[in-house]
Amino acid sequence: MAGLIPQGFIDELLSRVDIVDVVERRVPLKRAGKNHTACCPFHQEKTPSFSVQPEKQFFYCFGCGAGGNAIGFVQKFHNVGFVEAVEILARDAGLEVPRQESRAQATRAKAQRALYDCLQQASRFYQQQLRRHPARARAVDWCKSRGISGETAREFQLGYAPPGWENLIAALGTDEAARSRLIKAGLAIAREGGKEGEAGAASIYDRFRDRVVFPIRDQRGRTVGFGGRVLDGGKPKYLNSPETPVFQKGRELYGLYEARRGKAGKLMLVEGYMDVIALAEAGIRNAVATLGTATSEAQIQRMFRHAPEITFCFDGDEAGSRAAWRALETTLPLMRDGKSARFLFLPEGEDPDSMVRKLGKERFLELAGKAEPLEKFFFNHLGDGLDVASIEGRAALSNKALPLIRKLPEGVYRQLMLKRLAEAADVETETLLAQLSQAAKNTGRTAPDWSRQEPPDYGHEPLSEPPADFFPAHDTARAVGIGAGKPISTGLLAIRLLLREPGFALKATADLAPLREAGDETEKLVADLVEIKRKRPDMDYIGLYERCQSNEFMRGRLPPVITAENIEPANRENLEREFLQILDTLVQKSARKISGMRLRDKLRAKTAATEHTGEAR
Ligand code: UTP
Ligand code: MN
Repeated sequence: MAGLIPQGFIDELLSRVDIVDVVERRVPLKRAGKNHTACCPFHQEKTPSFSVQPEKQFFYCFGCGAGGNAIGFVQKFHNVGFVEAVEILARDAGLEVPRQESRAQATRAKAQRALYDCLQQASRFYQQQLRRHPARARAVDWCKSRGISGETAREFQLGYAPPGWENLIAALGTDEAARSRLIKAGLAIAREGGKEGEAGAASIYDRFRDRVVFPIRDQRGRTVGFGGRVLDGGKPKYLNSPETPVFQKGRELYGLYEARRGKAGKLMLVEGYMDVIALAEAGIRNAVATLGTATSEAQIQRMFRHAPEITFCFDGDEAGSRAAWRALETTLPLMRDGKSARFLFLPEGEDPDSMVRKLGKERFLELAGKAEPLEKFFFNHLGDGLDVASIEGRAALSNKALPLIRKLPEGVYRQLMLKRLAEAADVETETLLAQLSQAAKNTGRTAPDWSRQEPPDYGHEPLSEPPADFFPAHDTARAVGIGAGKPISTGLLAIRLLLREPGFALKATADLAPLREAGDETEKLVADLVEIKRKRPDMDYIGLYERCQSNEFMRGRLPPVITAENIEPANRENLEREFLQILDTLVQKSARKISGMRLRDKLRAKTAATEHTGEAR
């Protein structure tokens, strides 16, 4: 392991991963308002006190005090060090960890920010054109003909890329760097034969021309790409942004940002931009669309995170029903207990857009309410063409179904599916179970080995039980704040306790002036945190954490503080006393230091005075 991991890379990694993703892969989460909760993976508990906050990209357990960012979570969860945690996260995100401090890395992070910026400006430009461009009437008419109201157009930030080759370029491509950014962002295309690296005004042209554009926003609301639709019968009907450093089609969902703002409890997955828009227009604000590719596991995972129930609604055609089955197969491993998936099959030739316009909101929702549960679609589809009255037919059903059921995570849902298969195939559930576990043995599933070079396969099941050695041996006397046997300083300990229970600060009565005057960096920060909390009693641990992060000295030291070993629940009631004692100790230590200094100063002054008078004599 040569070299440091550059901070630029860690920043990039943290901006690429979503902590909700990271945690959800390992621990099933429940939505609770803006946040997500679960039973804490770091201590035994029956009611969830573990929470993940997407806005802050932070997790925290109110039970045991474990908390931190995505890296901290992976560290704790897999019981690995910082560097290894970064490697695991990077592997998941498909990134290579640069081994040396590279300026290139920092430049890349900066370039990425510039891309987001560029995309945002482009989106604004297109929206303006829809309002102002002389040729806007055609686009506006098209929107009207599709029943899109001004309000919906605004909400989804619809725009118009006017006819012509250089509109966007003229507006945004003010210099060489800006033009090459437009190319990077997928908004402009370099002409064939143009010299490599040359992005002069004449050598590039706008990708989107004379199209209505649909900005694609990621779940944080940043514009990452566009879909552009022709106004007439031209081809291709939709033109999409290419994949760029900030846009991966297989991960994003069109409309998710807007649906999240509507706080949907259920999500509907549809095929097209216009399906999302038409449904929203009708007042159904929970539809999201894939971007012209098959539904990926990442997309389903992301949807499940926002809503426990997904309704898949593909077009009523051959391609639509194939897509539905494929989506089912992708969904299986993600069907943890509490999640549900349904399939809505539309009449031949209809898509959600045409359907909702035909039926209106109420009747469409009624239809959607009748969507087939996954298990029904599953058995109908597999049984299709089989004669389950015959022994062969039943055996065939069982042979087709078992490998798929095996993909389900262990749990009640899987058991129910097995039971249904047992009924349909007329065999004992025990027999199926035996076959299942036999198959599992044959594939020899073993614990992931983090030292492997290729990306680790986490399996799809959450690690519901931490490995036996997960909680390091633990000496209660040292229970507070000792990370994997590594003691942390008293000052850090105080910070850790404060982050865990900011309210402790309000209990402290000590005068903190000595700490401010003579404490070391950490001790000064303790005084800082206590005083901030006194001034703003509503401040929570995140506020305090951010304060720590902005402290130059603390930056590198926070991870060990945050991820230090858990505090035994048994000790919790003592923590407040412990904190106050620590604070007292620190204050006294500083006070002694100060009086020591004063004494020295006095002595020195005295000596100086004596010498002085001596000289004068
Ligand atoms: P559809 O052809 O079903 O589009 O393609 P649609 O949404 O119903 O379009 P309208 O109603 O005719 O306007 C579904 C999705 O497939 C992708 C787009 O993401 C589209 O929304 N697609 C389709 C393309 O990427 N390119 C195409 O040429 C066509
Ligand atoms: Mn359509």
